[in-house]
Amino acid sequence: MRHILCVVLCVTSAILSTCTTSAQRPEGKQSARAVGMEHAVDSILAGLTLQEKIGQLVQYTGGWSTGPTGRSINQEQRTNIKEGMVGSLLNVYGSTVTRDLQRIAVEESRARIPLVFGLDVIHGFKTTFPIPLAEAATWDASAVELSARVSAAEASSSGIHWTFAPMVDIARDPRWGRIAEGSGEDPYLGSVMAAARVRGFQGRDLADPSAIMACAKHYAAYGGAEGGRDYNTVDISEMTLRDVYLPPFKAALDAGAGTFMASFNEIGGVPSSGSHFLLTTILRNEWKFEGFVVSDWNSIGELVQHGTAATPADAAEQAVNAGVDMDMESRCYRDHLQSLVEQGRVSKATLDASVRRVLRMKYRLGLFIDPYRASTPEREAQVHRSAGNVMAARAIARKAIVLLKNEGNVLPLARTLKTVAVIGPLAHNHADPVGPWAGPTDTNYVVTLLEAVREAIPAARVLFARGCGIDGTDTTGIAEAVAVARQAEVVLLGAGESRAMSGEAGSRSSLELPGRQGDLIRAVAATGKPVVLVLMNGRPLALSREEGQVPAILEAWFLGHETGHAITDVVFGYHTPTGRLPVSFPRVTGQVPIYYNHKNTGRPANDSVHFTSRYIDVPSSPLYPFGFGLTYTSFAYSDLTVITPKVKATDTIAVQISLKNTGTRASEEVVQLYVRDEVGSVTRPVRELKAYKRIHLEPGQLTRVSLALPAADLAFTGIDNQPHVEPGMFTVYVGPNAAEGIEGRFEVAGP
Ligand code: BGC
Repeated sequence: MRHILCVVLCVTSAILSTCTTSAQRPEGKQSARAVGMEHAVDSILAGLTLQEKIGQLVQYTGGWSTGPTGRSINQEQRTNIKEGMVGSLLNVYGSTVTRDLQRIAVEESRARIPLVFGLDVIHGFKTTFPIPLAEAATWDASAVELSARVSAAEASSSGIHWTFAPMVDIARDPRWGRIAEGSGEDPYLGSVMAAARVRGFQGRDLADPSAIMACAKHYAAYGGAEGGRDYNTVDISEMTLRDVYLPPFKAALDAGAGTFMASFNEIGGVPSSGSHFLLTTILRNEWKFEGFVVSDWNSIGELVQHGTAATPADAAEQAVNAGVDMDMESRCYRDHLQSLVEQGRVSKATLDASVRRVLRMKYRLGLFIDPYRASTPEREAQVHRSAGNVMAARAIARKAIVLLKNEGNVLPLARTLKTVAVIGPLAHNHADPVGPWAGPTDTNYVVTLLEAVREAIPAARVLFARGCGIDGTDTTGIAEAVAVARQAEVVLLGAGESRAMSGEAGSRSSLELPGRQGDLIRAVAATGKPVVLVLMNGRPLALSREEGQVPAILEAWFLGHETGHAITDVVFGYHTPTGRLPVSFPRVTGQVPIYYNHKNTGRPANDSVHFTSRYIDVPSSPLYPFGFGLTYTSFAYSDLTVITPKVKATDTIAVQISLKNTGTRASEEVVQLYVRDEVGSVTRPVRELKAYKRIHLEPGQLTRVSLALPAADLAFTGIDNQPHVEPGMFTVYVGPNAAEGIEGRFEVAGP
């Protein structure tokens, strides 16, 4: 029997010695590594049987039973590992369990190829961070990168090599529950966040045992589901696909994402998991992606339900020929690839190419050198929920909070308050603030708003009443909540959604607060006490009813374990709110999809002109626009200068503004730059975010802020589906959100 591991180790040690001698020449080192990898992969591949090759493309889930040391798998699957019929497992974690299974793969299977263990590490592993939508609200790439880094360190100590994240789907319809997992509606912000997360998960070198491989998902346009209903049909133009939905995927790829996941949806009649256009023409041929593509859960099998495949065998044929390398859970590859290859419906070259891609990533993860990647119970104990990790979670959570309203400067609250009422179904709730896709979280670690208020102002009387449930029709607790509010100087009211109301299959037809929470807010507000509404939710809500009733609103999303601490940091003024909305908040559900970078139409909305593109029963604007967020101070923008009024398509546009902190507190402003291409060969959005900068200013401080925009970033997809930077005039807006700002103009000169 050939000892493949031995071959790989020999080749690898040769490369490592090459690396040492060429340490001063990073480029040479890169290519030596790459050559070494190709040799290793070739020699492994040459020794595999057809069945073993197929095995590398098969991914199973572990059993759903969770033991003290992690999730395990069943006996049949153990046998399959031994037979070389499994390349990857998902939903199995814990150093003891994964080591046990890895040992079967590398010691008992003939080919001795290590397994790659995958898991949805979406916003934390043992330390639960804010949901990705909330993290995007920080507009802070380094904070988001750190969150992913911490998650990678924790998950890798438990034997995880690969996360099915970042989810980079643009979502313009907040009824879609999975908006919680992404970065909102904007391709630019989405791209910044996608790249930050990939860097955080993968670190500088995938072979570092604290790094995990990223997976950009769901490729592609999954968020474009009609009506915001999960898994639903997507029908968009290639222009919209390329300009709106694909940029964050490209950013993830450019940041080095090792894998992509094909999505469940179809686009214009072709399911993504069988789309040669998406997976080969764009991903591999245009973008030169070298990693591998995994299907979504049973998305290959679902080609039969989509109706493009008559049988699971047809589905396997379509998927592998389109470019899906690994089959998550459908068994279509396991059961049918062999006969498809034997019948010539899938070529040996196609099969080998897929296997090669999987082996390369296993190699790059360092699995052939240390298949256990230093995962041990000791490392788990050291890393999981370490003090530093929990601090990082609190720091990002408070940055994610967006102050939506603060009439009469109700916030921040005085720390000398004597009696505070904490009310509402989310005010003392340990389960929901972790949000959807919280993985192996322990909700007992959630610090609730009530607990944190008691901690923050220990001398005060802190009263609590739940008032009502998140859902349901029971209003019997509202009277008690009103009685509690009457005794207090101020009310903190925690309302929102349950964690199950967003995330996968969590689409809602209404964006209003569910259940009787509206009644609770109305009754408590009627006491005349100042009410700070603290929202915890996984999507934009339609708040026009509540907005008029309370003087202050904080959007706190689902912030994870440090929920209460983060909120009280903001409420009591230890942290000035700096979060900005990554998505527009509609007034009423019927306005969606509503997003800032829409087209102008031939009859742009004008609320006082009848025959324009609008609704007759609601203003055309959102309640809170994209990019919006208040602070505890105020900023004034003035004196926009376009330093480069005329540029070539290869130049960079330079813009400056003056920014002054006109309030009484130090804070950060997120200065946002938008452009509008005034006349194009095809219609262009009314505004597009192209750059932003965080600026810290002391009270009264004035500064000049410079922003740079490479003209190449003005490219858009033309009628020929190719990218173009067209000559002509552009308006540039610099301001605090997508609906405000001061303007200037510049010209891109013709060739
Ligand atoms: C989801 C993916 C996820 C996969 C594995 C699917 O249902 O759509 O986002 O990565 O399950 O858990």
